Amino acid sequence: MCGIVGYTGSQEAIQVVLDGLRRLEYRGYDSAGVAVLSEGPLRVAKKAGKLSNLEKEVVAAADGFTGTTGIGHTRWATHGGPTDRNAHPHMSADGRVAVIHNGIIENFAKLRASLESSGIEFTSDTDTECVAHLLALELTAAGGDLAEAMRLVCRRLEGAFTLLAVDTGTPGKVVGARRNSPLVVGRGQGENFLASDVSAFIAHTRDAIELGQDQVVLITADSIEITDFLGVPAQGRDFHVDWDLSAAEKGGHDWFMLKEIGEQPHAVDATLLGRVGEHGEILLDEVRLTDQDLRDVDKIFIIACGTAYHAGLVAKYAIEHWTRIPCEVELASEFRYRDPVLDRSTLVIAVSQSGETMDTLMALRHAKEQKARVLAICNTNGSTIPRESDAVLYTHGGPEIAVASTKAFLTQLAACFLVGLHLAQVRGVKYADEVGAVVDQLRAMPAAIAQVLSTMDDVRALARSLAHQKTFIFLGRHVGYPVALEGALKLKELAYVHAEGFAAGEMKHGPIAVIEEGTPVVCVVPSPAGRGVLHDKIVSNIQEVRARGAYTIVIAEEGDEAVVPYANHLIRVPRTPTLLAPFVTTVPLQVLAAEIADALGHDVDQPRNLAKSVTVE
Ligand code: F6R
Repeated sequence: MCGIVGYTGSQEAIQVVLDGLRRLEYRGYDSAGVAVLSEGPLRVAKKAGKLSNLEKEVVAAADGFTGTTGIGHTRWATHGGPTDRNAHPHMSADGRVAVIHNGIIENFAKLRASLESSGIEFTSDTDTECVAHLLALELTAAGGDLAEAMRLVCRRLEGAFTLLAVDTGTPGKVVGARRNSPLVVGRGQGENFLASDVSAFIAHTRDAIELGQDQVVLITADSIEITDFLGVPAQGRDFHVDWDLSAAEKGGHDWFMLKEIGEQPHAVDATLLGRVGEHGEILLDEVRLTDQDLRDVDKIFIIACGTAYHAGLVAKYAIEHWTRIPCEVELASEFRYRDPVLDRSTLVIAVSQSGETMDTLMALRHAKEQKARVLAICNTNGSTIPRESDAVLYTHGGPEIAVASTKAFLTQLAACFLVGLHLAQVRGVKYADEVGAVVDQLRAMPAAIAQVLSTMDDVRALARSLAHQKTFIFLGRHVGYPVALEGALKLKELAYVHAEGFAAGEMKHGPIAVIEEGTPVVCVVPSPAGRGVLHDKIVSNIQEVRARGAYTIVIAEEGDEAVVPYANHLIRVPRTPTLLAPFVTTVPLQVLAAEIADALGHDVDQPRNLAKSVTVE
């Protein structure tokens, strides 16, 4: 969602800030802006649309944006449309203060009414502008102390926010604050940074501090001071970023998404690496749960959104099969509103690439209030969801920049499977050697994924030939059903075409009516070796749609000859144990969606209307 950068040091702030914003583009945005503290008045520029619009404005400015302290923002509109006037930074009426913000200030209407009644005129429709005016007022109350003024403001705000501000009366300083929204500090040599995430400053430093909940930070070139909202000195969490700039760059691909699809064998490998201890036990990264806690679990909920939810749907099959514990998978955005039955013996698994998805975070908090244990599966070290969970298993997938999740999905599968195996072992349902056997099968997945990747030219050609189609149907059964949902989601979000995933058996209960002559239907076929009945049933389903004119694209394992007569186009994947098949069957669907989007001239990495990190409910 919104991207935030702050800098103070000896470099030209405008360059550092724009560079940082470019690296945060992946979060999704619809306007951008900067403010630089120069000798004279604050220099502010903001423009709707892509970052290049803002850059043109900055370049065109006669006196440039000279100064070594600045802030910058990419905005994903919430309060007020994506226009120049609503873009951040927002300034106080006296022009002294500039503020940028990620999140939603829930009591903004009340604050705005009270500021307006005192004669302040607003120049935007945003909730953020209140903060700029309040900060200017509190600066006077705080005798010009910027950090104290920010603390006073934060105590009046409700909702979720990361805020950064600069003040012409406080040169060389940037103040930041956070509640329910991420903020990290980059610790440099004679310079310091603030950002929504480390990719904004990774080119300058890999030493970072994650700010805790309800904290304020003031940076100068040589100091970092952290307090809580009351001014009590506080500490963030120091960490070192273990990936470098090249990991966040495209590596020769046209799109980050293609790079990330190609990284999947490595990402799955890294997620499995070093996870199994001497006695076959799964090694979690941070565990604040005992084996007894895990033995006491009598019900599991997986909560997640979008692609992570689909990973959860696949995991359910494996977890229930291995542990015999009932497992439900819920959309995080629905979870707390239906009052789920949770207690101390419920294990909630929160799956999130970003670790900041607000729907998942709120569902997690609801689960904790009901005393359930929460285990996070997350890709982003230092993010909120793992911090608030009782245990964490990080997927070591590396940064995922493209808005559409790819390697996150496969690494989430790997992590969920590890959790399932661990539970099964702790509870005595599986012995160490049985766990070891499945872990070995999992370890074979990176090679299998690489094999699929090496055959994707055919899928690319197919994608180009189908790019004009207006409707796509995806069918699957068992673990192939969530794969079908995921294939449809990828295509919808990237190509902006109507795509739906169905459990293949459901077609005859209604959806088959949409099939017309030539409608592309992608069928994810399970292994005939693993679940013979299942396989035969889907072959019948393929025949049903073909008989109604569908153009069938069949994903089936090598050696499965039964599907050949019914496939207009056949995509082969390596033979894989049934539960693990999504590792290989998902990959062609990712490639298909990316290629169709590219053929249609869409931005594959930043689809319209979407954000990478969805920090609002
Ligand atoms: C789809 C996609 C989204 C995310 C969802 C959850 O390609 O990327 O559906 O999967 O927004 O995000 P995380 O995993 O960050 O919680």
